[in-house]
Amino acid sequence: MTRTLWIFGLLFISLTEAYGLKYFPENFVVAKRGDPVTLTCTTKTDGAVTWKFEDDEIDIDDNIQADGKNLAVSEVADIMLGEYTCWRGNQKLSSTHLLMEADEGEEFDSLIKCRAKSYDCNFSCKWTNSRYTAVRLGLGPDCSEGGKSCHWVSSGVWQDGGFQLELSHTLSPYTEESTMLELTAEAISDHQIIRRTKRFYLRDIVQPDSPQIVNCQEVEQDLNVTIDPPSSWSTPHSFFSLEHEIEYTLKDDGETRRSLSALIPKRISKLRVRSRDSLVQSTWSQWTPWKNVRSGKKDLCRCKNKEKFCCPELPAGFLDGCKTKRKKKRSKDATINLISNNV
Ligand SMILES: *[C@@H]1O[C@H](CO)[C@@H](O)[C@H](O)[C@H]1NC(C)=O
Ligand SMILES: *[C@@H]1O[C@H](CO)[C@@H](O)[C@H](O)[C@H]1NC(C)=O
Repeated sequence: MTRTLWIFGLLFISLTEAYGLKYFPENFVVAKRGDPVTLTCTTKTDGAVTWKFEDDEIDIDDNIQADGKNLAVSEVADIMLGEYTCWRGNQKLSSTHLLMEADEGEEFDSLIKCRAKSYDCNFSCKWTNSRYTAVRLGLGPDCSEGGKSCHWVSSGVWQDGGFQLELSHTLSPYTEESTMLELTAEAISDHQIIRRTKRFYLRDIVQPDSPQIVNCQEVEQDLNVTIDPPSSWSTPHSFFSLEHEIEYTLKDDGETRRSLSALIPKRISKLRVRSRDSLVQSTWSQWTPWKNVRSGKKDLCRCKNKEKFCCPELPAGFLDGCKTKRKKKRSKDATINLISNNV
């Protein structure tokens, strides 16, 4: 019993390995189930060739006929999918994979998510369906029509729950976007191949990175929060304007509120911020981490930790003062230690 399970397990592993193509083969032919297909041996020289399928000699029968440099299959079935190589004697001439067009499958949006951090020339897409072992993406009609001149970007290793692919486009960030991007995705799962195309505007996939909280300046009863765009955002910032939303927690009752204005009540304990393109009202960025708010005169030395605290703009050298105070205290402690040790 255990033994059978073992054998089954081994079989299963080797099968999944064999069928899990990790890349797009250089040459492949896509057929429909039950349709005829012809594979051609790529060679410049003349003479008879022989064919192998996955390292085994091919049985020529009614369904598979060799004819010169061609191998003609009259009805494609699942067990015939895989790598075909043609040979002359011991010399391998070329290789081609026979793949099958998937009958159906998921829609574009459930397979892939794309996001642009800015209007610059790059955006990235993440493929998260692990049934597929190789994915490639291409932009433009060359790719959607399956032309040879398509420039494909192929998946690398599976990482953080998906394939991450980086694409470049040639849209100008400074003109109003009137051209849609046409993105084609191809993916292989068990020698089945799917192809999906989607058209969208770059602005539809814009989602900025989180902004930076710079300062929390008291202005009478309010707090003026200074926020910088994320460094990955398009410049000039006067042209590519972002709007920011602040979420904050009131000191008195712990209530959390949101504000689109940079002026918020002074008596708050913490805040965080997110941004979006204000013109097209893009997707909001992720929130920044929460920052505790330091205002008044108290505890401003903590403002050294800019990651955790939002502080007013401090006079130059203020924080150096903190350092020396702490150093002095430390050296005093050290002296006391010395004295007590000597006693
Ligand atoms: C675009 O992506 C390429 C490849 O990942 C990278 O080398 C380049 O720095 C990126 N350019 C921008 C503007 O992000
Ligand atoms: C808030 O701070 C910004 C930048 O530091 C400044 O330009 C603006 O005038 C301030 N607003 C108020 C009401 O003080």
